[in-house]
Amino acid sequence: MSGSRAVSRRGAAIVTGGSHGIGRAIGGQLRADGYRVVLADIVPPESLAEGMEFRQLDVGDPAAWERLLGEADLSDEVDVLVNNAGIGIEAGLLDTTLEQWERIIRVNQTGALNGMRSVIPHLIRRGAGSVVNISSIYGAVGTVFDPAYHASKAALRQMSKHAAVAYGRYGVRVNAVLPGLIDTRLTRGHTGDQNAGVIAQTPMRRSGEPREVAAAVSFLCSEQASFITGIDLPVDGGFLAQ
Ligand SMILES: NC(=O)c1ccc[n+]([C@@H]2O[C@H](COP(=O)([O-])OP(=O)(O)OC[C@H]3O[C@@H](n4cnc5c(N)ncnc54)[C@H](O)[C@@H]3O)[C@@H](O)[C@H]2O)c1
Repeated sequence: MSGSRAVSRRGAAIVTGGSHGIGRAIGGQLRADGYRVVLADIVPPESLAEGMEFRQLDVGDPAAWERLLGEADLSDEVDVLVNNAGIGIEAGLLDTTLEQWERIIRVNQTGALNGMRSVIPHLIRRGAGSVVNISSIYGAVGTVFDPAYHASKAALRQMSKHAAVAYGRYGVRVNAVLPGLIDTRLTRGHTGDQNAGVIAQTPMRRSGEPREVAAAVSFLCSEQASFITGIDLPVDGGFLAQ
């Protein structure tokens, strides 16, 4: 093997926004894959399965990341970072306040920047590791809502490609996953008409389950994906194929 080693031993996986929805499913899958899983979220999960840990973390706060990776056992063991925390609103460009814009960018985009800046140096030191940034189909196409969400999710794709190019030589792989409509409390908050509209535009004519996104993340973190970096992987029932 040239210059880098594949991850041969399961270390720790940090999953942001891991208390609910897609993040929670990713945490469960990575735990089943054998990782020590640290769910990092602003709020704790309702319950914590055996072998899972929770850390309170606001992804937008670099000092909080510094404290998290200041835990020597975690910085020594971390193999995987999943930047999954994300928020959005239902307002268009003319109705989004500057405060809302900054809040969304801070969580979705700067949060992933903070995570990668905190974790990648440890992956480089270990000579291997995988980062998965949870973007969205709405990082690739537009809707009438939420320009900050679209902008931040598109940025995640490009930040992933940048980091893949910059750190590939150290054995660090960075990929983006683009979920379509996934059934979580985020989308349960949307109107039935909105969700029905997306499902009607989805070739598979259904919403996805969090576990289907988790399976894609699990693959990208695994040795099966050892030569895959810098990609956008849609998990969208064919939405982006049209
Ligand atoms: N559900 C979908 O249809 C869908 C589609 C495409 C992309 N996504 C993306 O998937 C990710 C997860 O979405 P979800 O549907 O599971 O949402 P969710 O609302 O169920 O979960 C989001 C989690 O992020 C946490 N969070 C929010 N702000 C945070 C912060 N500042 N620091 C740390 N954690 C924070 C929340 O507490 C929550 O646990 C998001 O990035 C979302 O944009 C979701």
